[in-house]
Amino acid sequence: MPTSSTPTTLVLADAPTHHLDRRLQGQFAEHLGHCIDGGIWVGPDSSIANKNGIRSDVVAALREIKVPLVRWPGGCFADEYHWLKGVGPERQPMVNTHWGMVSEPNDFGTHEYFDLLHQLDAEAYVNGNVGSGSVQEMSDWIEYMTLESTSPMAELRRAHGREQPWKLEFFGVGNESWGCGGTMRPEHYADLYRQYQTFVRQYSDTPISKIACGANVDDYRWTEVLMANAARQMDGLSLHHYTIPNEGIWEKKASALDFDADGWRATMVQAWRMDELITRHGQIMDRHDPGKRVNLVVDEWGTWYQVEPGTNPGFLFQQNTVRDAVVAAIHFVIFHKHAARVRMANIAQMVNVLQAMLLTDGPRMVKTPTFHTFSLFSDHQDAEFVPVGGQFPDDVDVTASVKDGAHTISFVNAGLDEAAPLVIELPVEAGELLRAQVLTGATMQSHNTFDHSDEVAPVDLESGRDGFSVEGRRVSITLPPHSVATVRVQVRG
Ligand code: AHR
Repeated sequence: MPTSSTPTTLVLADAPTHHLDRRLQGQFAEHLGHCIDGGIWVGPDSSIANKNGIRSDVVAALREIKVPLVRWPGGCFADEYHWLKGVGPERQPMVNTHWGMVSEPNDFGTHEYFDLLHQLDAEAYVNGNVGSGSVQEMSDWIEYMTLESTSPMAELRRAHGREQPWKLEFFGVGNESWGCGGTMRPEHYADLYRQYQTFVRQYSDTPISKIACGANVDDYRWTEVLMANAARQMDGLSLHHYTIPNEGIWEKKASALDFDADGWRATMVQAWRMDELITRHGQIMDRHDPGKRVNLVVDEWGTWYQVEPGTNPGFLFQQNTVRDAVVAAIHFVIFHKHAARVRMANIAQMVNVLQAMLLTDGPRMVKTPTFHTFSLFSDHQDAEFVPVGGQFPDDVDVTASVKDGAHTISFVNAGLDEAAPLVIELPVEAGELLRAQVLTGATMQSHNTFDHSDEVAPVDLESGRDGFSVEGRRVSITLPPHSVATVRVQVRG
């Protein structure tokens, strides 16, 4: 592989600047296609190994990447979800009008969601229904989930077998209210937000962070109106931006597997756009909230391609290649940079939908390249961000953090042709090497299948081989084309 001969030297600052919230690696699971149905939920009577109906292989894999929280039940589905149909012994089916017009049996409801969180050791982010639900319905749901003492909803929860309330850390008031959640103008939604959130009562000791529906991509006016009219009533404002190759044009969505170098570059341009979007939405938020109290929550992001041939167009099932691994790494680099304002991000979606961590087919499961990027970045969870200075080579970016007496440095090379030799100068001598792994593939289209599940998997780097070494204060690494890497070293002294 061609390598530019002179390594680029980059320097790690000696002091961290801001916190990297673990929730930047949040997940999103919607009642859509086989995300929940078959991907997470198989039911207690399934021959697929499960605990209380939740797939054991999926839970075990997700625990490896330390999933910090799961947003549920949508997405667009959230604004047609009536939670009472999904609790108790008699579940009431509904039609999933957004996603394939299929029947949704509501077997997986509030109790099953909190059981999933318990199995994952993750926090809750429940998205409420503003588009087709009432204030009363939302308020009852909060009471059902979080009120301990005697009340009609707490008694109903007990009658359904759950004595104690659950912890509800985050609650979204509507989803994409500018589109599938009600086609609203920002002025109208801002008023509705103020009204609905009033009845998201704080019954327990666990504070509920209230998240308002934010902008679609570059709709800066939406952010302006929401911040001007409802900033005081919110803890977070969302942002949705999907990486759609071909200038982000919806109608020109491309194949997940069949793409060339132009398709690769077009994808990277859309992934990098997240930086501009956060910067500009953040500037508006800064004017209204200079103390950065309100979190910019990127609660839907990821690649959106054509569905795999022969699959239901409404199920959004797509394959996942090295390209997706690189897109995920680019997003983390951007989120880290902006983490003083962005303290939560949720990739769409956790299993079998869009840029998924895991794909399942009946009893089989495979980890995607995106899963491995999440693993490579997992040591940044709840670490302190350390700026990296220097002139970065084209297509290369680096992010670093410190936690538990160790520096974690993650790299992405989004270039297709050249390996990138780098030297990272640490502020202090490196101690023990705790982790050094690189993720790439034979080609940019490399991906994992149920029959070949390790085509794209992290490989350990050995000091003294393949351009990698840790000596004194210097970490040297040669990033292959289309790769993601992480090095974690103890800080000496
Ligand atoms: O993630 C798929 C869909 O994308 C979500 O339901 C919706 O919020 C967005 O448009």
